[in-house]
Amino acid sequence: MQQELIDKYGRKLDYLRLSVTDRCNFRCYYCMPEEGMNFVQREDLLTYEELDYITKIFVNLGVKKIRITGGEPFVRKGIVDFLELLSKNKGLKEITLTSNGSISKEQISKLAVLGIKKVNISLDSLDPQRFHEITRRDKFDEVMSCIKELLAQDFNVKLNCVIDGKKNIDDIVPFIKLTEKHPLSVRFLEEMPFNGTDKFDIPEWNYKALYSYIESHFPEIRKIIDESNSTSINYQVPGYLGSFGIIPAFSRTFCGTCNRIRLSATGELRTCLYGPPVCNLRDILRSGPGEEMLKSAILSAIAGKAKDGFEAENQIADGSKKSMSFLGG
Ligand code: GTP
Ligand code: 5AD
Ligand code: SF4
Repeated sequence: MQQELIDKYGRKLDYLRLSVTDRCNFRCYYCMPEEGMNFVQREDLLTYEELDYITKIFVNLGVKKIRITGGEPFVRKGIVDFLELLSKNKGLKEITLTSNGSISKEQISKLAVLGIKKVNISLDSLDPQRFHEITRRDKFDEVMSCIKELLAQDFNVKLNCVIDGKKNIDDIVPFIKLTEKHPLSVRFLEEMPFNGTDKFDIPEWNYKALYSYIESHFPEIRKIIDESNSTSINYQVPGYLGSFGIIPAFSRTFCGTCNRIRLSATGELRTCLYGPPVCNLRDILRSGPGEEMLKSAILSAIAGKAKDGFEAENQIADGSKKSMSFLGG
């Protein structure tokens, strides 16, 4: 019988988020400081062969979906070849990606050939100058071309837009209008405390504030059915091709249906985005004891998965400044 990873609250964990690098070609304010960070050294990264080996173990344990994240996955050399390797794993039902839009046209065509058809793109503004203020990089046109190409090649595209009251409120209406003619989903996110510094203010633009603002501009919106285990609560303006959603990432109201496990590019296994690493699979693998040790480390990590992101947060002892670029989102 196919094994399953079930935690003590009865949640089936079949979705692995795999970060392939902590590096990124952008410097979004909510993710890392302008000067960057102490990025991981090459030898400390899991190699693609190691990632593939560990993935196979997860798939044997019941993982069905993988999301490749970073940092920015497309800054790591050989990423498309790695995706090809992953796509050979028949136990995997779905491979998806989260990117900042640094995917070339040729790479997009290759993804389509591999059967990878769902891509989430971070985009916080439709205004080039505001985009620059947020990402501290001048890449607006490239990101827009990437999104257009993904849509032209029939990818299922979701945009992630982190909302800050002082920066991009004026983008909310244009983003929703974008869904009139384009079959994509725009998700507005509450900011989380993972910007690589000690500074963080509880987001005023939480789910409730975002919903009221949107409803005041689009009173006709209606609720649509959310995908199972969705982080976003989704809506549509009647007659529009696309839809939009709100992700209460800071309020953490979706933990009861969480189906996620996370592996950092250095092998840290987290059972919650807000929690500490439970073990390091790279170290276990490199110490040579083989598959059984890895399996038992994964199973014991799952057994300890916190009830929600608040409980997980309380398990962090050192208050270390984490960056989303390292955590993988
Ligand atoms: P799908 O549901 O697979 O489309 O993707 P997703 O929305 O989980 O993935 P994506 O990488 O696009 O992340 C969107 C936002 O949701 C990011 O800001 C994530 O960090 C946040 N998010 C994803 N998983 C969790 C989680 O387990 N807890 C919290 N609090 N936020 C999460
Ligand atoms: N708060 C909320 N979302 C964030 N992301 C990155 N950092 C943060 C943060 N501090 C989002 C990006 C990316 C996704 C994986 O996480 O928009 O799309
Ligand atoms: Fe890069 Fe994504 Fe972090 Fe922005 S949020 S700096 S795009 S890893």
